[in-house]
Amino acid sequence: MRNVKTLGLLGTGVIGGGWAARALHFGLDVIAADVKPEMEQWIRGAVANAEPALARLTFAPLPPKGTLSFTTDFKAMAEAADFIQENIPEQLALKQRVLSEVSRHAAADVIIASSTSGLTPTDLQRDMWAPERFCVAHPFNPVYLLPLVELVGGAKTAPAAIEAAAKFFTYIGMHPLRVRHEVPGHLTDRLQEALWREILHLVNDGIATTGELDESIVYGPGLRWAAMGTNLIYHLAGGESGMRHMLAQFGPCLKWPWTKLEAPELTETLIDRMVAGTQAEAAGRSIRELERLRDDSLVAVQQVLRQYDIGAGSTLRALEERLYRDAAAANPEGAVVGGKPLRLVDTVVRPEWIDYNRHMSDFRYGQVFGDAMDSLYRQVGVDEAYRATGRMYYSVETHVKYLGEAKVGEALYVTTQLLDLDDKRLHVFHRLHRGRDDALIATDEQMHLHVDTAAAKASAVDPVVRRKLESIRLDQAQLPRPHEAGRSIGQLT
Ligand SMILES: NC(=O)c1ccc[n+]([C@@H]2O[C@H](COP(=O)([O-])OP(=O)(O)OC[C@H]3O[C@@H](n4cnc5c(N)ncnc54)[C@H](O)[C@@H]3O)[C@@H](O)[C@H]2O)c1
Repeated sequence: MRNVKTLGLLGTGVIGGGWAARALHFGLDVIAADVKPEMEQWIRGAVANAEPALARLTFAPLPPKGTLSFTTDFKAMAEAADFIQENIPEQLALKQRVLSEVSRHAAADVIIASSTSGLTPTDLQRDMWAPERFCVAHPFNPVYLLPLVELVGGAKTAPAAIEAAAKFFTYIGMHPLRVRHEVPGHLTDRLQEALWREILHLVNDGIATTGELDESIVYGPGLRWAAMGTNLIYHLAGGESGMRHMLAQFGPCLKWPWTKLEAPELTETLIDRMVAGTQAEAAGRSIRELERLRDDSLVAVQQVLRQYDIGAGSTLRALEERLYRDAAAANPEGAVVGGKPLRLVDTVVRPEWIDYNRHMSDFRYGQVFGDAMDSLYRQVGVDEAYRATGRMYYSVETHVKYLGEAKVGEALYVTTQLLDLDDKRLHVFHRLHRGRDDALIATDEQMHLHVDTAAAKASAVDPVVRRKLESIRLDQAQLPRPHEAGRSIGQLT
């Protein structure tokens, strides 16, 4: 299977737009095909809309963004793409016909995947040419922020195609879940539908409103689900004897039963209740506004989970490791950029970073400088693997000078100058700039000490790391020493 540089999209609605935003953000070119020419404007809008949240997902160095092109000629798309993702309406006959046609214009080593929510791959690949490279790759809305993608092979799918698809989706920051048996609805939509069916019953029977039912999830199980699934959560609910006790206690309820299996009839009354209920929940907020709120929350949740290396946070961590590895591989001698300070962090002031004056809080300056240092470490090979060998740099001294203000939404970047280093010490100077006018808004001088973490004692840095740091320092040797460096507190000029 080929190396993917250009993603081809077939159908550019909600899901096609989401795929485009994700792929472009992680440096792939996208060629999007839709039968309706007006979808070009739509997909460009969808990509622009996704960007603010995506831009805040990670500080890791990203490759340059890919370029988006649009066509109504699916053959041109199929001939140009290295990987094709189909996202046309959920109708079996339509998908079968279009997949069959597209497969005849795509080389045999181009994987063709379908975003279908519930159709099975054996049915979809029936009339395709080279069907062994076809699989279902079912994403979740918003595709650009949710990492889950269910991979399902059909009777004619080659296992290598599933592996290649998994590799590709991992590359763009996703969590491929290999579904081992093809069943209608795959795994996740079967679970989602079971819950939704019950919601429809409860609304239909006048027992609860959509708002009350959403509260029943958001304040409780929904919070747990981001970190652990229902099964592990129930294992914990059973106390010391775990799932066995849980089944003994609540198993009998399954027979009563608390839930209904058949969906209710979608009568006009039920439809009206569902629509009125969700409009009341929206409380006048537009879909776009709610999407932004959802996206900001999804970014924040994943960043917290990342600290605990759990669920989607683990996926984010793995993606960042890959991005740092790729950035370091692109520059094996360390981050030498030709006699300039290194630009290690580009970010924006997030809503949760501001204080009561609506400016970035003091401690967030420290966080951004910390991210710059983290980025420098990774560039020279002080990464997770290095830390696992019991070695790390600790910060031992820092002097921040606040010079200007940053407001919510403003772009920021940090540049870093290496002042000095030896086997144990690393002396650096960071400058924080505001993106819109390059104004210097803070400086931070830091001293770091290399330690043996088990012995909690200073130790010599790995010679390879030292050599990379040294080459950065030499590269910057002609830079003037910052006049703030080495100053004591209270010196005002
Ligand atoms: N919306 C979701 O939450 C969601 C989630 C996961 C998967 N999916 C699946 O993704 C697929 C697309 O769903 P969507 O919500 O994006 O639908 P959508 O209606 O928003 O978009 C479908 C697009 O396909 C285009 N199209 C129709 N026929 C075409 C053809 N022959 N060639 C090229 N383009 C064509 C339409 O013009 C439209 O722009 C479906 O299979 C759906 O089950 C949807």
